[in-house]
Amino acid sequence: MIRQANIKDVAAIDSIGYLIKYDFSKINNTRKRLDLNYVKIFVYEEASIIKGFIEIECHYEITDIINIAVMSEYQNRGVASELLNYVIANIAQQSIMLEVNENNVNAIKFYQHNDFKELNRRKKYYDNLHDAIIMERKTI
Ligand SMILES: CC(C)(COP(=O)(O)OP(=O)(O)OC[C@H]1O[C@@H](n2cnc3c(N)ncnc32)[C@H](O)[C@@H]1OP(=O)(O)O)[C@@H](O)C(=O)NCCC(=O)NCCS
Repeated sequence: MIRQANIKDVAAIDSIGYLIKYDFSKINNTRKRLDLNYVKIFVYEEASIIKGFIEIECHYEITDIINIAVMSEYQNRGVASELLNYVIANIAQQSIMLEVNENNVNAIKFYQHNDFKELNRRKKYYDNLHDAIIMERKTI
């Protein structure tokens, strides 16, 4: 089941967010972001286990994926694809965008297989070392 996250999900989201960044719980402030009206977080829950989440920002016709992650033991089973498709079917209006570290090969492969195309790069954006790749998928 995919549903909107609530305050009780913060610990689960933060522990999965560790896969994105070791200090995710400090930098993301999930609890506070749940209250922002332009932020939406959806969780994928099965048998009372939160297996993954997607966090997006909605700015008029553009939807930005801020974070998406799935617990390691549940990866490669289509969980992230379902989260993405849920956002595309229910939220995204014209275009869905994201930024990904060029060294995050798994995520880039995932986005490419889900029809995201590279739009641009921010050179040496991460730690003054790796490019950020900006990707977009048109939803209309
Ligand atoms: C990137 C990430 C979110 C993908 O999550 P996922 O749930 O494994 O993604 P999916 O299962 O939908 O797709 C992954 C692969 O599994 C395959 N797959 C999908 N459904 C499947 C199924 N039922 N059975 C077997 N394989 C399946 C897909 O074809 C896909 O293959 P591909 O990589 O060759 O395209 C996950 O690797 C992750 O959490 N990474 C760490 C966090 C991160 O880097 N996030 C992105 C930056 S914010």
